[in-house]
Amino acid sequence: MAKTRSHFICQNCGAVHSRWVGKCDGCGAWNTIIEEDPTAGIGGGPGKAPKKGRPVTLTTLSGEIEEAPRIESGISELDRVTGGGFVRGSAVLIGGDPGIGKSTLLMQAAAALARRGNRVIYVSGEEAVAQVRLRAQRLNAADAGVLLAAETNVEDILATLSEDKRPDLVIIDSIQTLWSDVAEAAPGTVTQVRVGAQAMIRFAKQTGATVVLVGHVTKDGQIAGPRVVEHMVDAVMYFEGDRGHHYRIMRTVKNRFGPTDEIGVFEMSDRGLREVANPSELFLGERNEKAPGAAVFAGIEGTRPVLVEVQALVAPTSLGTPRRAVVGWDSSRLAMILAVLEAHCRVRLGNYDVYLNVAGGYRISEPAADVAVAAALVSSLAGQALPKECVYFGEISLSGAIRPVSHTGLRLKEAEKLGFQAAVLPSGSAEIPKSSNGSWNSIESLMDLVVRIAGSKHVGPTDPDEE
Ligand code: TYD
Ligand code: MG
Repeated sequence: MAKTRSHFICQNCGAVHSRWVGKCDGCGAWNTIIEEDPTAGIGGGPGKAPKKGRPVTLTTLSGEIEEAPRIESGISELDRVTGGGFVRGSAVLIGGDPGIGKSTLLMQAAAALARRGNRVIYVSGEEAVAQVRLRAQRLNAADAGVLLAAETNVEDILATLSEDKRPDLVIIDSIQTLWSDVAEAAPGTVTQVRVGAQAMIRFAKQTGATVVLVGHVTKDGQIAGPRVVEHMVDAVMYFEGDRGHHYRIMRTVKNRFGPTDEIGVFEMSDRGLREVANPSELFLGERNEKAPGAAVFAGIEGTRPVLVEVQALVAPTSLGTPRRAVVGWDSSRLAMILAVLEAHCRVRLGNYDVYLNVAGGYRISEPAADVAVAAALVSSLAGQALPKECVYFGEISLSGAIRPVSHTGLRLKEAEKLGFQAAVLPSGSAEIPKSSNGSWNSIESLMDLVVRIAGSKHVGPTDPDEE
């Protein structure tokens, strides 16, 4: 019989090595290689017969469905992103940059839930009891009845949680600080984070308590972070925002019990996070209506319309290769729009630097913003301010045609509500509502938009041979 050889497998990226090494060639991680027996498990070969399984009852797809029981916090922006409250027995990961406000939000949620009669346990691994108390006082949460522990050892945490009555909500702040006796690696390593998260998730499933795990992510994902935990939990939410601005956005990226495209908008104040029920008013707050290069985009986040300003600056370049810089939008999408403008609308941008910014640190992911971006670009290049009461939306295809997007009615209604009386939208859009006093202008191609903004005059420098 051939000699069985064991494999050395990187626990971070899954690369297989023939011998043990300290650093994985595949992902560059240290100390992640573990020896595994390839013949172990089901189908491992002769002499390795697995234990006899027990058949489970097969069922059909139709049948009774139970609504997942939820605990509502009463903070409506938070309840909206979770899909109506935290689901009992589920594990939720809340990720975000350090200092963005995760602990603040969770302390407020903990207090709100505790005030509604839930047993809430807050386990802080990062801050001492005194620090957490200080924050709670600032947030007016000190008297809410949240139970607090400063602990990082997984076994001790589980023992604490299993004492007394079962908790309704457990907050672990953060998973990077958890460590277990079972794993030998240092706290914060992939192995420890995974073991800790697994133990907490198992606790949630066994007892029906909701477990919220806090995880820091760094921009380059260097620290062994929540990424490894994402597939293990039921819901993943990211808390994001720009440090230079006050508002913060909670975004769902995965949710086994609800929608994944909702956002919750908050504003950081000196007394914690405040809900922002109407984000459009906030994002349009600092608008300069007379400046060229600014277009208002009527967007949709989940079920909610959001109006936001797209700003562009097109300026002659002093460099050989012009600069293209984007904040809050996809840079390859900008490149595409620039190419379509050049190819189909004779807008020459080769000698211009292009800067694009979405106001207020907001991030747009919808292709429907194409038309607003193009409008801002052309407006800046032509030095022509756009009409101040007009919103823009629509997707641009490579042929220069404008394609309809979803939720036309919702976008227009929100625009009207905020005092916008005109809109530039794709022709052929469905469900266009009758406006009371507005004018909805549908356009078929990007050229229509360019002519509308810059008139029939040529935009940009004229080619000498075209004169
Ligand atoms: P924190 O919740 O500690 O961030 P995280 O847990 O994501 O690391 O929030 C940190 C920032 O929030 C800090 O810079 C101070 C600010 N903050 C306020 O502006 N107002 C407040 O009421 C609180 C509690 C914090
Ligand atoms: Mg924190």
